[in-house]
Amino acid sequence: MSYVPAMAKAFAPAVERNRQPILEVLRRVLPSAGLVLEVASGTGQHAAFYSEHLPSLRWQPTDVSAESLQSIEAWVGDAARDNLLPPLQLDVRWARWPVPEADALICINMIHISPWETTEALFRGAGKLLAAGSPLITYGPYRLHGVHTAPSNAAFDESLRSRNPRWGVRDIDALCPLAATAGFTLEEQVAMPANNMTLVWRRDA
Ligand SMILES: C[S@@+](CC[C@H](N)C(=O)[O-])C[C@H]1O[C@@H](n2cnc3c(N)ncnc32)[C@H](O)[C@@H]1O
Repeated sequence: MSYVPAMAKAFAPAVERNRQPILEVLRRVLPSAGLVLEVASGTGQHAAFYSEHLPSLRWQPTDVSAESLQSIEAWVGDAARDNLLPPLQLDVRWARWPVPEADALICINMIHISPWETTEALFRGAGKLLAAGSPLITYGPYRLHGVHTAPSNAAFDESLRSRNPRWGVRDIDALCPLAATAGFTLEEQVAMPANNMTLVWRRDA
């Protein structure tokens, strides 16, 4: 009898809390059909949920980490949904991404848990991938005009930086010029539970 290792289907409780508020934004800002590229899919829970609740869209999960890819594969396998594609490995810092074009891009909770150059690479890559008018949606905690939006975010920022000095809660004022260089304008910032925000960036014409 051959031994088949169990797929490591990971579960992040935070996703259960943030997936619905993010979905409300996605329903408004995503195109009605087409391909959504998800960067940094993590466990794969968001991909499973959004492909179920946005059935007219095709969902392409990705992540840089092999462990995440395993978990996403398990979620994709269990969901067995035609519009949920098998995960692809993607490090946003790569010059060539495995998906040449998409109709929208979403990135949840990566910007603060990675070095600044990862955010630069995210916008640069998204700028190459998305056509004029397409949305890039980012979610997480953000600072605004140099100030944290809540004491809990300040504490979180400190804990992130103690884990890795190159991580940290980014300021929207710093993101806007970076996004502009890559061809994006901030269209909406939507307050989310637990002092997070969903930012909707739009690819310039
Ligand atoms: C905090 S997790 C968030 C995962 C998921 N989006 C969520 O909200 O549960 C951050 C994710 O970013 C991914 N990541 C970090 N650096 C990356 C990079 N350079 N390119 C792509 N993904 C990256 C990690 O592998 C990890 O899955």
